[in-house]
Amino acid sequence: MQFELTEQQRMIKELAADFAAREVAPIAAQIDEEERFPTEVVKKMGELGFMGMNVAEKYGGAAMDSVCYVLAMEEISKACASTGVIMSVNNSLVCWPLEKYGTEEQKMKWLAPLAKGEKLGAYCLSEPGAGTDAAAQTTKAKKDGDTWVLNGMKNFITNGANADTLLVFAQTDESLKHKGILAFIVDAKSDGFSVIRKEEKMGIRASDTAQLAFDNVRVPADQQLGADGTGFKVAMSTLDGGRIGIASQALGICAAAYEASVRYSKEREQFGRAIAKFQAIQWKIADMATRLEAARLLTYKAAWAKDQGGRYSEEAAMAKLYASEASHYITNEAVQIFGGNGYSKEYPVERHFRDAKITEIYEGTSEAQRMVISSMELRK
Ligand code: CAA
Repeated sequence: MQFELTEQQRMIKELAADFAAREVAPIAAQIDEEERFPTEVVKKMGELGFMGMNVAEKYGGAAMDSVCYVLAMEEISKACASTGVIMSVNNSLVCWPLEKYGTEEQKMKWLAPLAKGEKLGAYCLSEPGAGTDAAAQTTKAKKDGDTWVLNGMKNFITNGANADTLLVFAQTDESLKHKGILAFIVDAKSDGFSVIRKEEKMGIRASDTAQLAFDNVRVPADQQLGADGTGFKVAMSTLDGGRIGIASQALGICAAAYEASVRYSKEREQFGRAIAKFQAIQWKIADMATRLEAARLLTYKAAWAKDQGGRYSEEAAMAKLYASEASHYITNEAVQIFGGNGYSKEYPVERHFRDAKITEIYEGTSEAQRMVISSMELRK
């Protein structure tokens, strides 16, 4: 067993931490307040190779392992969870399936610009009536000659209003249930595609979450991703990696709230001494530190499992479940340690508390993760 990072992993962690401190952290509170998409930061992340971290060099990626990706995600999300999810969706939910299931032509045309950060991707699975029940797709795809015609609505799509390239799931034949679902690569400039509205959210306010409409959107047949009948498997296997991305986002939020709490408890004085001298605070610090460490171990282990080449659905679900619930716990305790100051926007833990909640919901709720974990456990 080896718990040390490799030289490359250490370098990536330092590079991401340095970039996050210089470019991401200084604007995090402001872009959250203004609900402003960090276009410039995302462009610079592309230049650093952070938008296609695991993609092969020949398709424009940085060809790094999944542990490097998790380390970078953690550092970026520690500074700004909104920027973290923008990065996670592009890497895990769009670049990964294109590299895994795409044809050579699709990879050169669609993957390369995404991996280089020249274009941005969105993953369009959720619908008003298909949240946890992802197989209940009502967006329809009908074949017309050598073109597919898409009609329907997608909900809560991260990057939806800013994306250039959409990975869209649609039902081709309801009688086939999940085996009728297909995945399509859709250009956001296509006629008939529109952004209906952007959600106003509790947290991750600088990332856009949009409702999208597809009204007779014509998609050439060569933009079908994966074989007939495999769209649901493309969606689910992609989410395995996505859940590692969200676990690392949650980990970044945990680390930010925890470190702020330690600093504050050493500085803040009550009853004539630093509050860190009181056992009530010491016990909170101990529980927060333990959960942070456990979340980190599960998340790194899931990333490592992904790199081993076998199936990693359970490791990913455990990491996502635990890290997201840890972020809820740790940010709640952080606000408590900060007291009235924690409830105020003057201090960052208020933002961390709001940002943490979504990690228990998107890319599969905690309940969906428990479904995945228990079904794998009971199969053993
Ligand atoms: N990899 C490959 N195949 C998989 C798979 C995986 N991880 N998970 C399931 N499958 C396959 C199964 O093997 C099965 O195949 P067969 O029919 O050939 O046997 C098929 O898919 C159906 O599997 P299930 O019966 O388990 O599917 P289900 O309909 O019962 O769904 C579920 C189970 C776990 C609830 C699943 O629907 C799920 O994960 N729901 C949550 C959806 C979700 O995470 N949405 C996130 C939206 S994206 C997002 O949030 C992005 C963002 O904003 C940042």
